[in-house]
Amino acid sequence: MQFSTILKLSAFLATAAVQVTAAQFNVTVGGPAGLVFTPNQVNAQPGDTIFFTFMQKNHTVTQSTLANPCQPAAGGFDSGFMPVAATNTNGPFPAAQFTVRDTSPVWAYCRQSGHCQQGMVFAINPGSNFATFQGTAMGTGSSSVSPPAGTSTPPTSTSTVAANPSPTSTGTDHRIIVGGTGILAFTPSNITAQPGDTVTFEFHQKNHTATQSTFASPCSPMMNGFNSGFQPVGTDAATFPTFTVGVNNTTPVWVYCAQSGHCSSGMVFAINAPATGNTFDAYRAKAMGSTGSSSASNPAPTSTGTTGAAGRNHVQLTAGLMAVLLTSLFFLL
Ligand SMILES: *[C@@H]1O[C@H](CO)[C@@H](O)[C@H](O)[C@H]1NC(C)=O
Ligand SMILES: *[C@@H]1O[C@H](CO)[C@@H](O)[C@H](O)[C@H]1NC(C)=O
Ligand SMILES: *[C@@H]1O[C@H](CO)[C@@H](O)[C@H](O)[C@H]1NC(C)=O
Ligand SMILES: *[C@@H]1O[C@H](CO)[C@@H](O)[C@H](O)[C@H]1NC(C)=O
Ligand SMILES: *[C@@H]1O[C@H](CO)[C@@H](O)[C@H](O)[C@H]1NC(C)=O
Repeated sequence: MQFSTILKLSAFLATAAVQVTAAQFNVTVGGPAGLVFTPNQVNAQPGDTIFFTFMQKNHTVTQSTLANPCQPAAGGFDSGFMPVAATNTNGPFPAAQFTVRDTSPVWAYCRQSGHCQQGMVFAINPGSNFATFQGTAMGTGSSSVSPPAGTSTPPTSTSTVAANPSPTSTGTDHRIIVGGTGILAFTPSNITAQPGDTVTFEFHQKNHTATQSTFASPCSPMMNGFNSGFQPVGTDAATFPTFTVGVNNTTPVWVYCAQSGHCSSGMVFAINAPATGNTFDAYRAKAMGSTGSSSASNPAPTSTGTTGAAGRNHVQLTAGLMAVLLTSLFFLL
């Protein structure tokens, strides 16, 4: 079931990229086989795709070099961490797809701490150098899990897969209920999310916004921040408007309702609030002490909702079947 779902998406993406004639190689990352890519090398032609399915544990596929197998290549691709719980045996599993650009060797590894040093490496068109590559990996001492400089994630492109070879990623969609009868709150009010995820605000009763602010000024719109605009919802409403934003990185994102008096009543929300220092609780406390701008007339809508930066995720969401499937699409340079 999950695999057929992946294949549907894969077929969709392949069609979008006009690569229907290319071969697809399936590679399993981790899972019961252990700290390995299965298979750990493929010989592929330009236009072929490598479809990585991430199984149990918490792996990446990250481009490196023959000389430095366990270091991210500058400007190389990186799937980011794809955690899969040990208890998730039936999927769906996150996936990443690579399109091969030329016949040059491509070297990759898992940048989870210690995995590369245990031989968790992968190559496309390695020629006779795979053993050397893996041997070097297992002899090196680096265990860096820091993201590669110049990495191709997080994705920023809003273009379609076909039109633009920039990475396109789809992730978990986090649904946040805004308001509701007698409720001046975002529910849940703070979440953790990964780059590539989306956050969909679903507006319930009353007349709320989801407006980005800053920790320093919880009840004032952030310059160039996102803003859903007012979303009035009647008491008898059966359908609820939504507004989706993409999560670009792990930097905290602070959000409030710009309806008059709501922010100062504590109607705030955060993505990736730190556990210490500028915590969600501290943000909300500031909001409630705030005499700052909570004026309803303040922020003009700056976005058309789901057609903004989050548009890339609609490759997934419009497919409907795969709300939990994480899929990243990268193109080899
Ligand atoms: C990849 O997996 C799909 C589904 O199992 C299969 O149809 C396809 O032939 C596989 N490709 C290769 C190269 O094994
Ligand atoms: C996955 O691994 C990364 C790097 O070690 C870590 O930061 C992250 O919290 C892990 N995710 C989960 C869900 O374990
Ligand atoms: C929400 O905020 C509280 C207080 O700052 C914190 O303890 C909790 O871990 C946060 N939850 C998430 C999912 O970030
Ligand atoms: C992600 O980046 C896009 C484009 O810059 C921006 O519109 C969007 O608001 C960002 N998302 C968040 C959560 O800041
Ligand atoms: C929603 O609230 C805004 C700001 O207070 C107001 O201008 C707008 O008329 C309200 N919409 C409805 C339908 O009540």
